[in-house]
Amino acid sequence: MTAIIDGKAISQKIKDELKEEVARKKAQGRSATLAVIQVGNDPASTVYVGNKKKACAYIGIESESFELPEETTQDELLEVIDRLNDDPGITGILVQLPVPAHIDEDTIIRRISPLKDVDGFHPMSVGALCIGEKGFVSCTPAGIMKLLEYSGIDVSGKECVVIGRSNIVGKPMSLLLLRANGTVTICHSKTKNLKEVASRADILVVAIGRPRMINEEYVKDGAVVIDVGIHRMEDGKLCGDVDFDRVKDKCSAITPVPGGVGPMTIAMLMYNVVSAM
Ligand code: GUN
Repeated sequence: MTAIIDGKAISQKIKDELKEEVARKKAQGRSATLAVIQVGNDPASTVYVGNKKKACAYIGIESESFELPEETTQDELLEVIDRLNDDPGITGILVQLPVPAHIDEDTIIRRISPLKDVDGFHPMSVGALCIGEKGFVSCTPAGIMKLLEYSGIDVSGKECVVIGRSNIVGKPMSLLLLRANGTVTICHSKTKNLKEVASRADILVVAIGRPRMINEEYVKDGAVVIDVGIHRMEDGKLCGDVDFDRVKDKCSAITPVPGGVGPMTIAMLMYNVVSAM
């Protein structure tokens, strides 16, 4: 029987544990406030930002919203970040991505103090992860490690294949699997024989951004399949990068879309915010 990894339940458990930890820290006089900045009003970003603020309220920490108009200049956004960096009442800063095209994303990411970089996107945070030092870890890959841990899946010594090399998911994912003693291969758009490489994996993490691209031909019998993709199809239904129906009987465990990796991202954001408290 294939295990369907329930990200909704696991993320709820993590948020409930964090709620207790927040209460303990508050009793010691500590507090946390997450600053959430959104530039423009991309509808998907508005939903994500709303969910992040709701999660803060649920675990008992403050959030402060900065809803800036689409025309905000890069300098104006940098000024807001500088102010929040210097504000001792703000413990975490998040700029919802994507930012409008006239703003350079890398410049924004680099301006957030690494001490408040709860998204884990700053080069200092990524560098710390790379050399095994303490620092904020990008939320989606950190969430995937929690899914594996809560599902009793040991990474040590396993063949791990990550498809996708983005700074937010693929690269940090590979580093986390390596840190857990996996043997890690990173695949991308130029990889030759993707099917052959992917089907070596004991643990296959798919983050390519193409709906249902990965079918049973890419998956070894008994593999664990983690699907990071999420796509709204023409019929209104959500699907992942993995063709769930074609893969599910071949693997030993798989994350569904929705309800797999997605809910873990916000839970791990909360984890980062609480750890900065
Ligand atoms: N846009 C899509 N995912 C994310 C995320 O994890 N953090 C931020 N800041 N923006 C995003």
